[in-house]
Amino acid sequence: MDVRGQHFELLPFGSGRRMCPGTSLGLQMVYATFGAMIQCFEWKAGEDGKLTSVDMDEGRGLNLPKANPLVCVPAARFDPIPLSIN
Ligand code: HEM
Repeated sequence: MDVRGQHFELLPFGSGRRMCPGTSLGLQMVYATFGAMIQCFEWKAGEDGKLTSVDMDEGRGLNLPKANPLVCVPAARFDPIPLSIN
């Protein structure tokens, strides 16, 4: 699905003349951040790391907040800075 304002089911950057002018930069930031989160960390769900399913209940608000926040614990699994320059 297109996220640049053509499909009205999903408009993270708005649509039309006042839509977000930073869409391309925003998307690059999202891809780079997600890539680093996935490549560099092992993620455990829940404060104790033992959550087996995610609570998808919706809270009140215009931007569809979660009723209960999801807590994830990252464990580094890949050092992006090579040892030789430490
Ligand atoms: C994932 C990141 C981003 C999201 C989800 C986002 C989302 C939005 C949304 C929903 C709007 C309102 C659009 C409308 O009224 O229809 C907006 C406006 C705007 N955004 Fe973003 N944005 C992001 C990143 C950025 C970046 C990186 C910049 C600048 C470098 C930026 C600059 C602006 C500006 C200046 C406006 C106002 C445009 C206007 O009112 O004419 N945004 N953004």
